[in-house]
Amino acid sequence: MKFRTPNRFPDLAALHARLGELAPDLDLEEVPDDPDPLAAPLERGGWRLSNRFVVQPMEGWDGTADGGASPDTLRRWRRFGESGAALIWGGEAFAVREDGKANPNQLCHADRGSTLSTLAALRDALLAGHREIGGEAPVDWRLGLQLTHSGRWSRPLAGPAPRIAFRHPVLDPRVGVEDDAVLLSDAELEGIAERYVEVAGCAREVGFDFVDVKACHGYLLHELLAARSRAGSYGGDLGGRSRLMRRIIEEIGRTAPGLDVAVRLSVTDVVPHRKGKDGAGEPDWSAGAPYEHGFGLDPRQPDQPDWSEPLALIEQLVGDGVRWFNLTIGSPYWCPHIQRPASFPPSDGYPPPEDPLAGVAAHLRAVRRVREAQPSIGLVGSGWTYLQEWLPAIARHEVAAGHVDGVGLGRMILSYPDLPRDVIARRAMPKRAVCRTFSDCTTAPRKGLPSGCYPLDPHYKEKPEATRLKELKKEVGR
Ligand SMILES: Cc1cc2nc3c(=O)[nH]c(=O)nc-3n(C[C@H](O)[C@H](O)[C@H](O)COP(=O)(O)O)c2cc1C
Repeated sequence: MKFRTPNRFPDLAALHARLGELAPDLDLEEVPDDPDPLAAPLERGGWRLSNRFVVQPMEGWDGTADGGASPDTLRRWRRFGESGAALIWGGEAFAVREDGKANPNQLCHADRGSTLSTLAALRDALLAGHREIGGEAPVDWRLGLQLTHSGRWSRPLAGPAPRIAFRHPVLDPRVGVEDDAVLLSDAELEGIAERYVEVAGCAREVGFDFVDVKACHGYLLHELLAARSRAGSYGGDLGGRSRLMRRIIEEIGRTAPGLDVAVRLSVTDVVPHRKGKDGAGEPDWSAGAPYEHGFGLDPRQPDQPDWSEPLALIEQLVGDGVRWFNLTIGSPYWCPHIQRPASFPPSDGYPPPEDPLAGVAAHLRAVRRVREAQPSIGLVGSGWTYLQEWLPAIARHEVAAGHVDGVGLGRMILSYPDLPRDVIARRAMPKRAVCRTFSDCTTAPRKGLPSGCYPLDPHYKEKPEATRLKELKKEVGR
């Protein structure tokens, strides 16, 4: 499908007009940047933040074999610090157990001693970044660690080693599940929950301000939220499906006083997509057929979000003491076009089935929907990178209107970590640093290489892996 990429819009009004065609409800308009709402401090949900920029969790597939940080991991965390963003949401997904690693090089908890030293090194790298930027470092900032078990998407060694919450008619064959052998029992889930609590204790000891009990992108706690077909304590109704995450949050609160708990949530979803016969993405599910395997999707009409369960869950979690949420949509494994809207798909994806701006609009709308229901919690939005040079202008509107508190930067932070500081200091954005959503940062790890911005970050451009990645992309035709 043909669409106009954001860098081809001559001005903000033209971009607004296109977004207005795709999502008339958004009602966007230009907001003055002096004073800049993105540079405004915020006090919300118990946190004081010097600005509205958030570094999203961004994994690098570059940890050591025993789950520790490599020089590239530390470089990334230092650059997170150099960004000047006031909120570092998780840094990256940290597996609470070896079997829950999403790739062989994911950071991982093995024992208390090694986790403490890894986390201390990550925090030190971030602080070194702050020192590097001197007076441009945020005065009030928060650092979290994202805790994960990859569940269905676990790959602790070379190939898939799924541990699933329920049988899924489309996703099972994609990860080689043929029977119930890899279905996690209730007792196994409870064992995994204990590891979340253990790692949270380590994060607190090292000086992290919060942990993110990750419930997004198809990983274990997110998959559980859709486990309607699961029998036992952790499936069935929403109470059962959210029981494990709520148990983890409660236990962290009991054992790690002073450590805040936040949640990154895939707040809505779409049915799994695949590459269609014409090459573009298409639903891998019969139109109109009921679909009970999604969270935040109407099972009878799965082409529509259903806000009732996500809003009920958020209300329960707020009651449990969670004050900050980072909202995302779906999963990079079954609907990358919406989870991370891009001009160019990753090697395991498909060309966009719609204008990627529709995906950006879905992210904006999702946060607004939650904001209406929960005016006083802290909310971070995702999926902004596709906007490219227009990112600050659209984000400014959403922040000024009070729709969102934090602007979460994912891919953009890999190519252009200085964006927050440049916007705050009113410096021009260098065109050569702006992420053009080539998806190499996703394709590389899909091919077993470390992630990073191969097209724009000289550190990755010059690595031998950059040549290898080019060859691999040629082989798959992208
Ligand atoms: C290379 C890469 C690594 C990522 N790692 C994580 C992760 O560890 N945890 C997580 O919640 N999301 C992760 N994400 C998703 C991003 O946090 C973000 O949601 C996504 O890139 C969309 O935001 P953007 O448009 O700003 O890129 C990753 C994305 C990419 C491209």
